[in-house]
This record gives sequence, C-alpha cells and structure tokens, in this order.
Amino acid sequence: MCGIVAYKGPKLNAGKVVFDGLKLLEYRGYDSSGIAIHNNGNVEVFKKKGKVKNSEKLFKNSKISSNIAIGHTRWATHGEPSDVNSHPIVSYNKKYTIVHNGIIENYKELKSLLEDEGYKFQTDTDTEVLVNFIESCTSKSEDFAKGFSYALSKVTGAFGIVLMVNNNPDILYAARKGSPLAIGQFNGNFILASDASPIIKYTNKIIYLENDTFLKISGNSFKIFDFKLKSKNKNFIEVDLELQKVELGKYDSYMLKEIMEQPNSLTQTMLGRVKDNDITLGGITDENGNNLIEAKRIIIVGCGTSWHAALTAEYFLEKYLKIPVEVEYASEFRYREPIIYKDDVVFVISQSGETADTLEATKIAKKKGAVVLGIVNAVGSSIARETDEGCYLHAGPEIGVASTKAFTSQLLVLFMIGIKAGYLKRHISESKYYKMINQLKEIPSKVDEIIRESSLIEKVAKKIYKKDHCLFMSRGNNFPVALEGALKLKEISYIHAEGYPAAELKHGPIALIDKNMPVVVICTKSDEYEKILSNVMEIKARKAIVIGVLDPKNFHMKKHFDHYIEVPDTSKDFSPIINQIPLQLIAYYCAIYRGCDVDMPRNLAKSVTVE
Ligand code: M6R
Repeated sequence: MCGIVAYKGPKLNAGKVVFDGLKLLEYRGYDSSGIAIHNNGNVEVFKKKGKVKNSEKLFKNSKISSNIAIGHTRWATHGEPSDVNSHPIVSYNKKYTIVHNGIIENYKELKSLLEDEGYKFQTDTDTEVLVNFIESCTSKSEDFAKGFSYALSKVTGAFGIVLMVNNNPDILYAARKGSPLAIGQFNGNFILASDASPIIKYTNKIIYLENDTFLKISGNSFKIFDFKLKSKNKNFIEVDLELQKVELGKYDSYMLKEIMEQPNSLTQTMLGRVKDNDITLGGITDENGNNLIEAKRIIIVGCGTSWHAALTAEYFLEKYLKIPVEVEYASEFRYREPIIYKDDVVFVISQSGETADTLEATKIAKKKGAVVLGIVNAVGSSIARETDEGCYLHAGPEIGVASTKAFTSQLLVLFMIGIKAGYLKRHISESKYYKMINQLKEIPSKVDEIIRESSLIEKVAKKIYKKDHCLFMSRGNNFPVALEGALKLKEISYIHAEGYPAAELKHGPIALIDKNMPVVVICTKSDEYEKILSNVMEIKARKAIVIGVLDPKNFHMKKHFDHYIEVPDTSKDFSPIINQIPLQLIAYYCAIYRGCDVDMPRNLAKSVTVE
C-alpha cells in the first residue's frame, strides 16, 4: 500500500533519493505520488495522480536541489485517486507537511473538532485531518514534542508518517503506529522508508521504528521516544538484502522473474535445513518443537495466497500429525472471538510480514496464551518480530504484487515442519522420513523442468486469454492449488476465475459451463483421479474447454482434454508445489496477452497494511 521515502542530510540530492526510492516502492501498489522539498525557506509540493514518473516530471521541471525532502506513493482509501488527494499534504496554517501510510479511524471525530476551531479542508483524506490535528495540538502545547505525542496518542487506526517542519529545514519527524517505517543512517545522512529497499543502496544498518514511538532528526543526530516522551533505544539491525535482488535484471517484470527463480528460491528455503537425512529447523527451539508435537490442535491463519498455503498444509498436517488443523482467514479470526487453548499451536503465514489482519490475529493468539509461530518471508517485519519463533522462507524479496515464489516456499516450509513433527510423533516411519527428504530435494529440479517448457504453457494461455471467465478444479490437496490458480488469474489478468473442489461443480457452478468456459483441471497422481475423470466427463459433455495439468501417471487421459500441460511425476504430498507452477505461468501469459501490468495490477497493493 502507500509508500514513504524521506531524506535529510548534507551529502545527497534529496529529490533524487526520494524519487529513486519511490520507484523501488512502486511494487506496493499506488495510484498517485508526490514530493515536498525545502527550497530557500519555502516548502514546495509536486504531486500528481498516476505513475511516479508524472510527479517526477513536474518536480524535475522546477530544477530544485535541496537536502531535505519527503515523498509518497498513495493507495487511495479516503477520497478518490486525484492530484489534490495525493500526498504530501500541507497543514491548514502551513506549518507542517506530511506523508502518511495507514488509516485514521477516528478522522470524522477529529475533523469536526478541528472544524469547530476554524480549520478548513481541501482534500477528502484522513491524512489532512491528521496533519491539521498535529498542528492544532502542537500550537496549544508548550513544546512541540508534547503536542505531537499527545496528538499521536489520540489518533486511532494505523499510521506511519514523516512530518516536515515548514520553517525549519534542519528537522524531520517520523512516527509509527502499525504501518512500518525503516530508518537508515550514514555519516549524518538519514533515509526513511516504508521498507528497506530504498535504503540498502546507502546502508544495510537499519532501525525499524517500533509501534507507538516517534523519531526526531535534528542536525546530524536523532532520538526516538515513545508517546509518553520516554527515550527509547536505537536498535539497529543488519539487513541481508542485496540491491540486485530487488532489481529486474534481464526480466520484463518482477512476476516473471519471481516465477522463473523458483528453483533457486526453493533451494534457498531448504538450505541448511534439509541435509543428509534430516530436517533441522533452527528457527523453532526444542521447547516449541515439543509444544508442536504435544499440541492437541493446530490453527493456521493468513490472507489471500498465504491462506491458500495454509489450506494446502491442512491436508498434509492432519495426515501426518493426526491432530485437527483449522485454517482461518486472519480478518475473520480476529473479530469472531476465537476459542484458543494454551496447548494450541498457531501458525501465522505472511509473505510481507506486514498484513494488518494477520498481525492483529498474531497478537490475539499470543494474548490467549497459544504458542504462535511465524512463517514469514520479509526478515525483520512486524509479524516476524511479533511471533514467538518461526521459520523464514528465505525466498528473497518478492516484489510482484501476485505472490508466486513465496507461495511455493510457504508450502515447502509447512511440509518440512510437518515431516519433522510427523517423524518425531512416529506417524512417519524412519524409511518414509528419508524417502520424503529425498523427494523434497528433487523439487527444485522438477520446477526447473516445467519452467524450461514455459513456451508450451504460453500456447495454452493463448487459447484462453480472450475469455471472460475461467474455472479451476481439483480434489484433495490440489483443491487449494485450484483456488490459488484462480486467484492468480483474476488478480493480474482481470479474467473472472473461481476454484472449486471438482465434486462441488455439480452443486451449482456447472450451470456456468458452456462452450466459452475454460476449465483448468489439476489431475496429477491422486487416489481420486478416477473420480476427477468422471467430473471431466461431466464438463466435457457440456462443451467446456477442458485444460488438464497431468503427470506421467495420467498421460493416458490426454485424449479427454482439449489442451494439456505435462508436469513431472512427484509424490502426491508434494504435488501442490509442482502443480502451481503452470498455473502461475497461465496467469502470467494471459495477463501479458491482455496487455495488463502484471507487477502492478489495478486496485491491488503488495502489503495490505490496513484492515
Ligand atoms: O504478505 P501476505 O502474505 O500476508 O499477503 C497476503 C495477501 O495479501 C496476498 O497473498 C495477496 O492475496 C496476493 N496478492 C496474492 O497474490
């Protein structure tokens, strides 16, 4: 969602730092952008609806060069995407200029208080309310810090903000409640951003501002305080993120890059964990390993693709741990007073580690005393820090809005956890354990086999990209793969798509089937494949365009499909990883043929930092 970049320092051109950084944050999803910059005693604002290059062009025409600026990419919440609603936003009496990521929930109440004081508003945004509220509170307070912290403590909702003091180019404030903010410092230069990617070019030592704290940069030093003005420690962490990992390289889009690098990302996920004939998960201590083995129940929480990973894991974990596994949408879990016992183990899954609902679900599960383990990709993210322990995906940064490599690594981590726990619980024999470990090791090369044949998948996509609708179906542990295939297709190509358990089609969706409806059937090695074949016959009889994802065991079924994609033979347990790859590629090629921007699909944001 919204992205923030700010710079203050003696060394660099602030405008350039801000725009370079905003371009690295484009992946988060946005609909307008802007910059505010100190210029000879004034603060000038350049902002525009649309791409970053629009506001950059305006700014470049001004030829301003300065050493302090704040910039923003806005994903509209309050008020439509427009020039006026874009950030930065200047306060009513022109004392401050703000950029904001998050949502101010009590903005109506604050707005009416401010209107009573004579404030007038030019935008529809909650952000203008926030900057005016800060202005009002600080003007009534004996010193700025008191008024500022008072204002922040009265705001409900989520915010990451950077605030410029319009008559003082030597000071910059930032604050956080919910929405993340990272700070890098080098030789008196400061860069603030919504994530580490705009900072790592300059330094890999970063502080993630804690919730309910604010930061004051003055001259070449800075201090952090909580909202009660108590000074806080500066906890720098070293971020292991290389710039080349967030650059496109030879690819036209991050989505394609991330699909193609899955043999490597999956290898990285196993690195140091799957070796010889054993699985070692360093992120989970023996104590929590034992808690997992003794757990009466597992609850897995996530959103979107991460929820699909959880649903796939449900099949695997119930089979090998022999305990109930419940899978929950984080947004529902947090509001329905869930029953959580102390001997439950709760897994929270999130690529970004910043999803607002998943973060809140984490806090609720912790409060209720359960062991909460994170399965997160973004190192140092809020969920990673909030959970007791867990496993990082180590899949490398995922920039494309559509989650691809994170999904396959999430599955891999969940499988590794399940195999190890199932073995320790003696539901997996020693010989089966070794066999499964070897099967895991073979996954990256099988994924590579599919990727090398991507031109065949492109041909299949060419057959369906003009359609308005598409169904995906499968059974068992590949049913969530069908759901994920449908999500990928709809989010980046805007083809309406749904996933179903194959047997469910007869209970309603089959009414949709005619000669214009493509149905993608994931039909690899499975105990239920005879049954899937019957379902294929039912939709063929109704003239659907049937596309099969088949493995060598099922090649004899080719004749029943209009088109098919071959995937390598793999164990049924791990087939969801393999089977997802062609579905990612179908979505990618359909979107490209339809002329869609695969990395920045309309209305979507990479990190959903508001609920
Ligand atoms: O970062 P998270 O895994 O918590 O994100 C959850 C969803 O927002 C995310 O998976 C979303 O559904 C993706 N756009 C799917 O491609």
